[in-house]
Amino acid sequence: MDQTSSDVKGSASGPGGTGGARDTWGSKAGFILAAAGSAVGLGNIWGFPTVAAQNGGAAFLLVYLGCVIFIGAPVMLAELTIGRHTQRNPVGAFRALAPGRSWIAVGALGVIAGVVILSFYSVIAGWTIAYIFKTLSGAFPPGADTTAIFASVAGSPTAAITYHMIFMVITIAVVVGGVRGGIERWTKVLMPGLAVLLLLLVARAVTLSGAGAGLSFYLNPDFSQITGSVFLAAAGQAFFSLSLGMGAMITYGSYISKKDDLVSSALAVTVFDTAIAVFAGLLIFPTLFHAGMDPTASGPGMVFVVLTSLLGTIPPAPWGGTVFGSMFFVLLFIAALTSSISLLEVGTAYLVDEKKFTRKKAAWLLGVVAFVLGIPSALANGAVPWLTSLPGIGMDFLSFLFTVFGQYALVVGALFISVFTAWIWGTKAAGDEVRANDGRFPLGRTWTFLIRFVCPIAIVLILINLIQALI
Ligand code: TRP
Repeated sequence: MDQTSSDVKGSASGPGGTGGARDTWGSKAGFILAAAGSAVGLGNIWGFPTVAAQNGGAAFLLVYLGCVIFIGAPVMLAELTIGRHTQRNPVGAFRALAPGRSWIAVGALGVIAGVVILSFYSVIAGWTIAYIFKTLSGAFPPGADTTAIFASVAGSPTAAITYHMIFMVITIAVVVGGVRGGIERWTKVLMPGLAVLLLLLVARAVTLSGAGAGLSFYLNPDFSQITGSVFLAAAGQAFFSLSLGMGAMITYGSYISKKDDLVSSALAVTVFDTAIAVFAGLLIFPTLFHAGMDPTASGPGMVFVVLTSLLGTIPPAPWGGTVFGSMFFVLLFIAALTSSISLLEVGTAYLVDEKKFTRKKAAWLLGVVAFVLGIPSALANGAVPWLTSLPGIGMDFLSFLFTVFGQYALVVGALFISVFTAWIWGTKAAGDEVRANDGRFPLGRTWTFLIRFVCPIAIVLILINLIQALI
């Protein structure tokens, strides 16, 4: 089969997980782009600053970086290795490596988590579409009431649900078209563009009056703020941002060629994703303090409100804000799309490989389920009061799903994946797969130690802390 011109699993009759050859990414760079496209998304620009604000700023940043290095990166390599070795979706991968065991439940958990995460992810991504139009129409001159503008988008049932639907349909359409054609193409434009624009906006943010207080909140840790719940939030956020813990990277890894180097790919994706999140913090916190807002009171709308308040400060007003703002939201929309694709791809690959669905039917079925599931999240930012502040919980419904499925479920999933790789499949077999390209496994001993001991123990401690907090 011609491996360069056909889409990955682009048709129902294409390579499946159970039989013959499976297509691979066009090149190693193509794979890294796609995996980075999955990782970099709303989690970096929206999730990271929001969670950091609620967890003490600089204290959180420190713990977050620790979680990325010691837990995130090793689990990233584990997922990619499982994927490339089995060439299957998560459920099929666990079945292939541990036949007849209950490990496939971990794969199933991943499929479910993917659909639930997609449901609220699409709502936030819908706001970015609305903001493309808002910025283009010059809605953010100096002094604009950005809180009221956010309320007019997210608080309107029609607007919120319509944009959520538009985003979901686009996601489904790309997944139906096949993974590689869609993702590689978009990500090549997105990655450099987003990085450059982010740096320009950071340059503006850190030179605002009052930026110093924001930088100190973000970079100058108050160690007394580091509590068990900060660890849980940091680990959860790290997995969310790196697309780990539910098999997305198993699925993407299943398309990597045996000739490519897994270690450097995993590291490149991890470093790039983390850099974007750290820059997003450098953008949001100085602006937030400049605008005189309270970081600890931040909800799902914070980043939208804060970011757009920066636009009026970009010279020459109001054109500077219009140009930079619209470019930013276009890039954020594409970043969200290359991530949502991977959320839908996990379940789609499962239904195609294991249940013999056509790709089209699988993507539409799961996409429609995620759309319906997302409606309460779309109504949870002002449109419906009890969803905006859940009785007995106090959180809005979207934040609740983000916490439970976007963070806790991924922490649990990552625990199982690390235990499975280290102790069931075994680090020796995994190491052989890593070495399949050139016989080398740089950092092999370090990885073995981290995945065997550090990852499982750290995650178990984090979870014990969660259970204690709940009872
Ligand atoms: N990592 C993406 C982001 O930061 C979201 C995402 C895509 C994801 N695929 C995932 C999160 C799989 C967890 C698991 O926006």
